[in-house]
Amino acid sequence: MKERVLSGMQPSGYLHLGNYAGALKNWVRLQDIYECFYCVVDWHALTSNYANPSPIADYKRDMLINFIAAGLDPNKCTIFLQSEVKQHAELHLLLSMITPLGWLERVPTYKEKQTEIKDKDLNTYGFLGYPVLQAADILIYRARHVPVGVDQIPHLELTREIARRFEFLYGKGILIEPEPLLTESPKVPGVDGRKMSKSYDNAVYLSDTPEIIEKKIKTMMTDPARKRKTDKGDPELSPVYTLHKIFSSPDEIAHVAAACKAAEIGCIDCKKILIKNICRDLEPLWSKRQELINSPSTLDDILNEGNKRAAAEAEKTMAQIRRAMKLV
Ligand code: TRP
Repeated sequence: MKERVLSGMQPSGYLHLGNYAGALKNWVRLQDIYECFYCVVDWHALTSNYANPSPIADYKRDMLINFIAAGLDPNKCTIFLQSEVKQHAELHLLLSMITPLGWLERVPTYKEKQTEIKDKDLNTYGFLGYPVLQAADILIYRARHVPVGVDQIPHLELTREIARRFEFLYGKGILIEPEPLLTESPKVPGVDGRKMSKSYDNAVYLSDTPEIIEKKIKTMMTDPARKRKTDKGDPELSPVYTLHKIFSSPDEIAHVAAACKAAEIGCIDCKKILIKNICRDLEPLWSKRQELINSPSTLDDILNEGNKRAAAEAEKTMAQIRRAMKLV
């Protein structure tokens, strides 16, 4: 029996190279090792975008298409939509009964996001409860491993604490404490050198055409100290080089690094190699994407099947939880 993995991604924007290289490629690898459940967490997207929900529908569809186009195989893993498995909401409610307010107020992302995001009112019950909903996503499948980035560690710790408290109160061996699965994944810089993020407007999207990718990379920041082609550069200071390390071959990486240091290659030529490699990496994804876009019923079938499988698993846990909490 394979151990179970669950992870989720929030449809709060179109998928970009950061999501792809940082998370999705890892998810594809894990589907051969574990029994994987991958969830598009659209209710989570509402916790911060409740005032403007209309783009979420497009983001969801883009996310599902890219999941499959990137290589998630519905015959190997379960791909589903959170809001189609109502048991998540039921467990969120029940877990909210036992979660002390102080635990939620202490989650670092809570205060951080409230101060960071000025254009939205995040002083809501739903936003405070974000990690309880995440705990429900994970615990309802009794997942052992949760592949996430380090930023999610506090949410995982809270999930473990909630599971422990549930077991302490109702002691039935129903919920298990999940472990974060921290796989080394590259930090993907955006075109301005900061972390790639849709909120920084520095992202290369999986849905960008080769022409747009070329345009974006051509204006990408490089080693700021290298003003002329005749200046020697330091590749480690150039986010273009960071992308080379993700998308180029070992030989090409060694070549551009040496040539940059010796001022033998200009930034434009270096970027051309990168553009070619990003496009080559994405080509299979683009053709699979196109197939899925041309056949919407295929996508609907995959999603319906995934939702059904997820709901069946979630329902098994909920039946036990309802009994443990004396609801039946
Ligand atoms: N909070 C996660 C993020 O921002 C998304 C998420 C929601 C999640 N539910 C989850 C991740 C369950 C892993 C497991 O990345």
